[in-house]
Amino acid sequence: MNPLDARALDQLFLKARTVNGFQDTPITAEKLVELYELFKWGPTSMNCQPARFVFAASQAAKRRLKPALSAGNVDKTMAAPATAIVAWDSRFFELLPAQFPAGPQAGKRFAENPPAAEIAGRLNATLTGAYMMLAARALGLSCGPMAGFDNAKVDAEFFPDGRWRSLFLCNLGVGDSAKTRPRGPRLTFGEACRLL
Ligand SMILES: Cc1cc2nc3c(=O)[nH]c(=O)nc-3n(C[C@H](O)[C@H](O)[C@H](O)COP(=O)(O)O)c2cc1C
Repeated sequence: MNPLDARALDQLFLKARTVNGFQDTPITAEKLVELYELFKWGPTSMNCQPARFVFAASQAAKRRLKPALSAGNVDKTMAAPATAIVAWDSRFFELLPAQFPAGPQAGKRFAENPPAAEIAGRLNATLTGAYMMLAARALGLSCGPMAGFDNAKVDAEFFPDGRWRSLFLCNLGVGDSAKTRPRGPRLTFGEACRLL
């Protein structure tokens, strides 16, 4: 496998920024399908794929989201071309027999152990949300992830049967760099890593 070139690394990481504003370019259903078809290949444990996504791209859908948003997240979310609700399916394991034929008992083990299912569901769905953000950058989109919202309100509004449960929100679109805040530093290797 060859390393990506410098331009690709800039686009994915080094010059990629969390954005707070977007250009007036709508995000099409076809682009969201293209995005899913890319990020779905990111790995999950036992290929369990617990992540679920609602893309709120219409004003009607945004209005349903609005009451759950923290004050500082309202304007940019209402103006974003689309907002992904990244969620996990609390019954993801029912699909495991088809998705992980190598371990035919895995689904049953999760069904019998709800705490283990929740740990695996949240971990792997969060990972897939991160794959979504990197895939979006790879396709030339920008992301504005948000934890500043009321999960219970989002779940009551969008997932009233209780099966899917929200993890985080992510505004998506073509970024407007004028609205980007100065970049914060990152921890050094020595602060964040141990080499044993
Ligand atoms: C899971 C997650 C939740 C976040 N929640 C919020 C939020 O609620 N509101 C907000 O304005 N920014 C939020 N952010 C944005 C972060 O502050 C931002 O990604 C971080 O400072 C790095 O910025 P940079 O990518 O431009 O370097 C969130 C980011 C992540 C990954």
